[in-house]
Amino acid sequence: MIVESTTELPQDTDADTVVIGVLDGEKVHHDIDGILNGLVAAGEAKAKHRHLAVAHAGAKRWVLVGLGKRDELDPEKVRIAAASALGRARELGAERLCWEVPHKVGGEIAAAVVEGTMLTAYRFDRFKSKPPENGNGGLEALLVSAHDDLSGVVAEAEIVTRAVNAARNLQNTPANALTPTAVADAARVLGELDGVTVEVEGRAGLARLGMGSFACVAQGSAEEPALITLRYEGPDAQGPTLGLVGKAVTFDTGGISIKNANRMSDMKMDMSGGAAVLGAIEAIAELKLPVRVVAVVGATENMPSGNAVKPGDVVTAANGTTIEIINTDAEGRLVLADCLTHAVNLGAERLVDIATLTGSIITALGNTHAGLFASEDDWAAQITAAATTTGETVWRLPLHADYAKALDSDTADLMNVNEARKAGSSVAAQFLQRFTGDVPWAHLDIAGTAWGAGKPYASKGGSGWGVRLFVELARSLAR
Ligand code: BES
Ligand code: MN
Ligand code: ZN
Repeated sequence: MIVESTTELPQDTDADTVVIGVLDGEKVHHDIDGILNGLVAAGEAKAKHRHLAVAHAGAKRWVLVGLGKRDELDPEKVRIAAASALGRARELGAERLCWEVPHKVGGEIAAAVVEGTMLTAYRFDRFKSKPPENGNGGLEALLVSAHDDLSGVVAEAEIVTRAVNAARNLQNTPANALTPTAVADAARVLGELDGVTVEVEGRAGLARLGMGSFACVAQGSAEEPALITLRYEGPDAQGPTLGLVGKAVTFDTGGISIKNANRMSDMKMDMSGGAAVLGAIEAIAELKLPVRVVAVVGATENMPSGNAVKPGDVVTAANGTTIEIINTDAEGRLVLADCLTHAVNLGAERLVDIATLTGSIITALGNTHAGLFASEDDWAAQITAAATTTGETVWRLPLHADYAKALDSDTADLMNVNEARKAGSSVAAQFLQRFTGDVPWAHLDIAGTAWGAGKPYASKGGSGWGVRLFVELARSLAR
């Protein structure tokens, strides 16, 4: 899809369909023979959020979408309205869509039009034997029309949203195609961007680095694991080095503590944290943000086999901590443990990890919020602010010594789970904290938000959750 900005009036563009946002008590500014305001006056077009009306005027199709009250307008409302408008426009056969940005709003509203439209237009058809003619579900172009020149914000929003959709491609790719090696290959491509370097270690590298925790998850799989390290240094880099750590379990069977068959195919997306980290590096580097980032992605399968790690086994993590494996399905924390140690060793000064870590977070927060755990209030606040801006909302949940105590082992330093299964998400977060040194750290549990119809603009398959949040966080570190 082509995305462009223009200061032309919608009627003067070559779009076949125009979307106009209707604000409460306001007229359509650039009407055609009174037709559009006639619809508003007749009550057919309404300001009620997401309400849709359609008209034909001046050889174009017009979709009027409700945006609510001007003083309550925010980017998330616009993303959602853009999803509704595109849905209708597509039914009507739109190929070239022009969105008129309401007068006198900030650039973030134009960015939200781009995000909402591109995210909604996304389709995953790599495995369709007869792909639709146009991979964007019929949409060739999006023109963003505004009074002022918004080419900068529109171009940036396009870069970021493309990276979100790239992360979604990784999420949606089945595990027989997206092996850990394939994740590493996707990371290597990012090494072509200015300021980005990529290193990949396999099984031998994990052994050399003493990563017995990560390695034990991979040992049951025939697929080579990948410890992927990316570094980005932007021009005139400022602020603390941001450490991003992502779980990329390309398929989670549970291992010997095997899962039941119900929706197990979703576990091809257990690499969503890693996908978000790769998408973020892509966007941050393409935007040339003035920051330093070290990113660590741990990619492996979690399989049962004659070589697989067994309940009761004890392994030693890279920081020397011994771990008694109680449940092999709590593998994400084992992978992240060594990846966190690695990020600390590589000089991360602020850490965030992102992982589809616990089913418990879905019970607690559904698809609406990701769970946020943080060692410091300031860091939690900075992440929450970025999340609010992008609509990837988070809810902070507690860390507490009692939750840490649940992991005391009779045999080793730590167990990987407590079978009582109380406060599962907090206990998992406490496990991770043991591997973060004294670096301000936060953990995002995205098991509920990485997929599962949370948003109208990402209603099927992977959502790319976290890419936009990390870009916004990097921007805030550079400010
Ligand atoms: N990848 C799963 C978590 C998950 C579950 C993500 C459902 C998305 C949807 C993780 O590896 C896992 O299996 N966690 C276990 C931990 C338990 C054994 C303590 C869980 O949540 O059941
Ligand atoms: Mn698991
Ligand atoms: Zn998992």
